Amino acid sequence: MSEGRLARFASAEDFRLEARRRLPRILFDYLDGGACGETTMAANLADLARIRLAPRVLRDVAARSLAASFLGARQAMPVMLGPVGSLGLFRAGGEAAAFRAARQAGIPACLSSFAVTRPEDLPGGRGGDAFQLYVLKDRGRTEAILERVAAAGFGTLFVTVDTAVSGIRERDLRNGLRRLARPDLRILADLASHPRWCAGMARNGLPAMMLAEGWPEAGRGYLAQAAFLAGQIDPGFDGKGLEWLRTRWRGRLAVKGVMCAEDARIAIDCGADAVVVSNHGGRQLDGARSTIRALPAVAEAVAGRAEVLFDGGIRRGGDVLKALMRGADACLLGRAYAYAAAAAGEAGIAVLLRRIGAELDAAMALSGMTAPGAGRGAASEPAASPPSPGP
Ligand SMILES: Cc1cc2nc3c(=O)[nH]c(=O)nc-3n(C[C@H](O)[C@H](O)[C@H](O)COP(=O)(O)O)c2cc1C
Repeated sequence: MSEGRLARFASAEDFRLEARRRLPRILFDYLDGGACGETTMAANLADLARIRLAPRVLRDVAARSLAASFLGARQAMPVMLGPVGSLGLFRAGGEAAAFRAARQAGIPACLSSFAVTRPEDLPGGRGGDAFQLYVLKDRGRTEAILERVAAAGFGTLFVTVDTAVSGIRERDLRNGLRRLARPDLRILADLASHPRWCAGMARNGLPAMMLAEGWPEAGRGYLAQAAFLAGQIDPGFDGKGLEWLRTRWRGRLAVKGVMCAEDARIAIDCGADAVVVSNHGGRQLDGARSTIRALPAVAEAVAGRAEVLFDGGIRRGGDVLKALMRGADACLLGRAYAYAAAAAGEAGIAVLLRRIGAELDAAMALSGMTAPGAGRGAASEPAASPPSPGP
């Protein structure tokens, strides 16, 4: 995409619309959708949007910095790229593009277990760059993954704990996502009407899932391998399992998918360095409360003993500020950067990160703040209309 055209992308929503044009519908819906009736996915966005920031004036905000420390390093802003599986399906080389854009922006990124790109093939990362793990029923295989990512230089592990079973995604059922490997006429027509995506895939060869290297029983091709991996995730993973993981991973450990104070306490008691308040972008338990509603109780329970990261519905810099004000140390982007990757690759993610940084800077300045940390506990008003149902 030309630089001039890219410069007109003003928001994550602009990238979303372009991703919708570029991706076959079956893939766009996989990226864009959530579990069941998508009420939790919608609540993540709606509850963030309902929070009103409180403008402050007559304060000296001439010298401002977005810099923030989290995951053991000083980052350019309190934002990182979270784990998004199948980025390499949305755009050939999607994971490497994300890591390069993150490095350029001075923030960390997290590689998903469901990635196409091998951890060894990523551009040398920044402090805080992470690998996201699902603990498998086969603990020997899990340990082998840990050794592989440690050898590849990753110092931080995100263990995702909100996938005891796979979320039920209605869009994928309707579109027949499972049949993508052996497409029927409808899917073929969908693919054929998106020639730019097809050309990108054809140039780079059919994607495979990097973790499945050396797992012949996982089958061939990304979809078969992803289905195999999903079936390997251990639904018996609990606090004891987390203690086991802590003994096997020497680096920084973040527990992703915590939505209440009690689970945050368990994670910290088991040795977590960070918790990620997340409902998987509303892709798992439909009907769960929004993450922004869950955040204050988790932050209170953590009480500074670990870092609190946050995701779910972050599309703008103002959303980041709202999460910081409710106790987050930093936010993960999910769909927002995946839309940008699908739309315009590395350059698209770079533009999105610039927009989010500029919006965060403006939101801070107009709220009378000069640094992200200053937001913690500062006043903001919930909207007059009732938020989505809580617990
Ligand atoms: C297409 C897609 C794939 C995802 N894959 C993973 C994954 O492999 N591991 C994981 O922990 N989270 C995964 N997530 C969840 C994200 O890390 C994040 O929690 C979520 O996208 C945040 O919500 P948001 O997209 O509304 O910002 C995925 C999300 C999407 C949209």
